Amino acid sequence: MKILAITGALRKESYNTQLLRAVKEMAPEDMEIEIVTLHGIPLYDADEEDKHGVPQSVKALQDKVRQADGIIIATPEYNFSVPGVLKNGTDWLSRSGNPFKWKRVGVMGASQGPVGTARSQYHLRQNLNGLEAITMPKPEIFVASADTKFANGKLMDEATRKVIATWLNAFKNWVAKKP
Ligand SMILES: Cc1cc2nc3c(=O)[nH]c(=O)nc-3n(C[C@H](O)[C@H](O)[C@H](O)COP(=O)(O)O)c2cc1C
Repeated sequence: MKILAITGALRKESYNTQLLRAVKEMAPEDMEIEIVTLHGIPLYDADEEDKHGVPQSVKALQDKVRQADGIIIATPEYNFSVPGVLKNGTDWLSRSGNPFKWKRVGVMGASQGPVGTARSQYHLRQNLNGLEAITMPKPEIFVASADTKFANGKLMDEATRKVIATWLNAFKNWVAKKP
């Protein structure tokens, strides 16, 4: 099973990217996870799109989405919502043969605040509805107070690791369409 994991954060030490690394490390043997960032995706500009079409960086990511059996998106929370970088990314990805249509998607997120990206994940789910993706409703992963749970680039919090193990099992079945 091929899974593409998109992090909504650009910073090198991002908790969301670290969360995806923990997910990848804990994934079952038959689940291959590739983690990608949105570096190199330009700001969406309809005039540029009219003139030059979908940029190469977006096309490359669209291909990866198309080829994956399932997608994981880890989103930070900025001002109670999805960071502009991620919203811009999903907007670009939806252009010209939207590869998210009917794609099975799992969302998760880590933030320093008390609700662990609950608000941004629900906005992201709404965006993904617009892309006709099929998002896994539950279980959910909200990593709150992320600054206390990661150290030296690793997820140290045992309770969160248990949540991830349960989530991975559910996600595998979700992607395989097994009730
Ligand atoms: C512009 C901005 C807005 C933020 N708003 C929120 C917020 O609404 N809720 C929250 O929990 N954290 C918020 N934060 C803190 C982020 O949770 C924190 O920066 C987190 O580390 C970002 O994710 P990352 O580690 O993956 O980069 C905000 C940070 C920035 C820069």
